Amino acid sequence: MMFTPVLNQFSTWFLHHQSFAGYIEPIMQMFKPEWRAGQFRAQIIKATILSGEFLNVQIKPSKQWHGHIAGQHISLTVEINGRLLTRVFTVASSPQYFKKTGKLRLLIKTSNQGRFTGLLNSKFTKNVWCNISAPTGDFVFEKSSRPATFIAGGSGITPMLAMLHEQLRLTSQKTSKKISLIYYAKAAEHQCVDELSDLAAQFSHFSFLLLTRAQSSDITSNINTAEKPDIYCCGPTDFMQTLADFSNKHSLTYYQEAFGLQLSRLNDDSQFNVKLHSSTHIVSANDVLLPQFEAQNLPVKRGCGIGICHQCQCIKKSGVVRNLKTGELSDSGEQLIQLCVSQAVSDLELQL
Ligand code: FES
Repeated sequence: MMFTPVLNQFSTWFLHHQSFAGYIEPIMQMFKPEWRAGQFRAQIIKATILSGEFLNVQIKPSKQWHGHIAGQHISLTVEINGRLLTRVFTVASSPQYFKKTGKLRLLIKTSNQGRFTGLLNSKFTKNVWCNISAPTGDFVFEKSSRPATFIAGGSGITPMLAMLHEQLRLTSQKTSKKISLIYYAKAAEHQCVDELSDLAAQFSHFSFLLLTRAQSSDITSNINTAEKPDIYCCGPTDFMQTLADFSNKHSLTYYQEAFGLQLSRLNDDSQFNVKLHSSTHIVSANDVLLPQFEAQNLPVKRGCGIGICHQCQCIKKSGVVRNLKTGELSDSGEQLIQLCVSQAVSDLELQL
């Protein structure tokens, strides 16, 4: 919208809000429950408890949500006990399923100890509203004439499910290009096994292997390097590192989901002053700004913590930050930054 920047500037000057949409949020919520600036509304259709403390959740986004690419993730925000909590989940259903039904599937590993996931069972009841972000992420299937081997660890199966449903239909059964899945999980915690069996029965170029670490501790041992497959991997960080190293050693093309990865830290002991309204705070260059502000009890908001949901966004009036997701340095002027992925590289002046 042409007027949006003008309204946002007006809002910053006169309404003490970063955006006009944020200012009118409470009014919008009187008509549309859970309407939030910069997010999409979505309604819970169904939530089913699966083995291994997984929850299968079907949600229906509002019409403004335009769909995803298989393998991408979204942030999901729910209000629990008056607090907004956000986490990132990969969509476990294909774009075709969304086009046909208007719905998305999320497979969520819950935990009784989890501040967020432990509370979801009771929260996710039919017709409850939540918020989702636009889809992001570049862990998507790449066109290639080589076979593909998907390797999933635990809840890393979710992007694989979306990609398999999409790609098995697109790749012709006449082609020799095979797609295989090696799926590691704890015993009795493999998800959607019937669904995978149906796919294998329907598409002769697809096969899958269910494994536990106890059965096969070397997670690379079932990769057929003679076929030179492209490797797609999603799982815990050490799991992906092992497969990245293996692929590198065998000159295999390697793709991995990156949203669960730690942001790299610079080994820099410098300290900088951050001017915030009328007070000044010291931060280290060795960590991103959000946890440092939280430790100093400053009024910051945390959502996903990995640069997706924009809940931690604030205005940088001056100074230079590095975005640890992209590695890029900002310019020194006024701009919006995300505190959870920004590291100080000079003194800063911020407006929360
Ligand atoms: S907390 Fe989500 S972008 Fe920073």
